Amino acid sequence: MRERRIALLGATGSIGRQALEVIAANPDLSVCALASGSQPLDDVATQLGVEHVQVGGDVTDLLDAAEPDLVLNAVVGFAGVGATLWALEHGVTLALANKESLVAAGDLAVAAWKRGQGLLLPVDSEHSALFQCLAGRAPETVASVVLTASGGPFRNRSAAELESVTVEEALAHPTWSMGPKITIDSATLANKGLELIEAHYLFGLEYERIDVVVHPTSVVHALVRFRDGAALAHLGYPDMRVPISFALSYPERRATSVPGLDFSAGLQLEFEPPDLDRFPLLALARVSGERGGTYPCAFNAANEVAVAAFLDGRIPFSEIARLVEDALGEIDGAPVRDLAELVEADEQARRLAERRLAAV
Ligand SMILES: NC(=O)c1ccc[n+]([C@@H]2O[C@H](COP(=O)([O-])OP(=O)(O)OC[C@H]3O[C@@H](n4cnc5c(N)ncnc54)[C@H](OP(=O)(O)O)[C@@H]3O)[C@@H](O)[C@H]2O)c1
Repeated sequence: MRERRIALLGATGSIGRQALEVIAANPDLSVCALASGSQPLDDVATQLGVEHVQVGGDVTDLLDAAEPDLVLNAVVGFAGVGATLWALEHGVTLALANKESLVAAGDLAVAAWKRGQGLLLPVDSEHSALFQCLAGRAPETVASVVLTASGGPFRNRSAAELESVTVEEALAHPTWSMGPKITIDSATLANKGLELIEAHYLFGLEYERIDVVVHPTSVVHALVRFRDGAALAHLGYPDMRVPISFALSYPERRATSVPGLDFSAGLQLEFEPPDLDRFPLLALARVSGERGGTYPCAFNAANEVAVAAFLDGRIPFSEIARLVEDALGEIDGAPVRDLAELVEADEQARRLAERRLAAV
């Protein structure tokens, strides 16, 4: 592979740090630009000899100047929208961890992708798994796809118990080690809801053909069901370095330090349907996706506000879903024509969620 110059956005985060590990192990991968939200990047920029560096703010000028071969968007939240649209519009390969940007900007992003004609490689493990299981398959042979969810730390808690779980308990994810926002999203199943919408836009699938199943050990990342009754699954130990490496070195499949499956140690492959009563954010995400327009954007915005409030100790865990539901009930969900209108839709949903928050 010829040298691939990567713009690493969200370099200080969980995905960003693991990406730096993968890049260090592959001499033909290099970093040409670094971005973070507020943490300094001087040390890593000096160490890697990176000239294009930005902390906070709009990254599109940085990307224009750096001219990367690949953008790894590992920013958390709506803040990643600008980078996603930039890469898709310019036809620059986008390795996408920042699912919130595709959820919020879905229609704009797909239109930009069509114009730019570049590659969109999912880094989310479930979507990387689906991408691999779907590769080379004729669309009419695919019956449905299945995203697996660990079920999070509260899989066995009753609705009453969920009222009083703590931030520390919610941050203790059973199978994945991730940043705080996605860890809370995994505990509420909002993460799987965001992934449902992400899968819709990535693979052009109707929502009724995207299922979610709880699989506590997170060994099966996703499955594709075909029309002949066969299903293909993607398995591996839960370790984000695998999908990161796959996206950064695509179409090659590079070696990583992650071990292969060990059957002598026993392998638990159990599945159960998600409980939408105890975890209503998954159902709310599906409804938002099906309604389309700016409902997914509002779902994401209200959820970001609610998760931040929970992490700050301002609301109890079960209030996260109520706050999102209320915000969704107050918007009209009208589609947007451009990024400026999308930003306005995002801000409106945040204002509604903040207002509700003030009343809690
Ligand atoms: N972690 C995982 O295993 C995992 C798995 C699948 C998908 N994802 C997705 O990947 C994304 C990143 O997750 P994470 O767990 O790595 O999050 P994280 O550890 O919280 O890191 C977030 C990164 O985004 C940066 N950031 C925040 N606001 C920014 C802004 N306004 N402009 C530029 N950068 C900004 C942060 O910089 P500062 O450090 O300066 O704040 C940090 O580098 C999320 O969308 C998540 O859903 C993560």
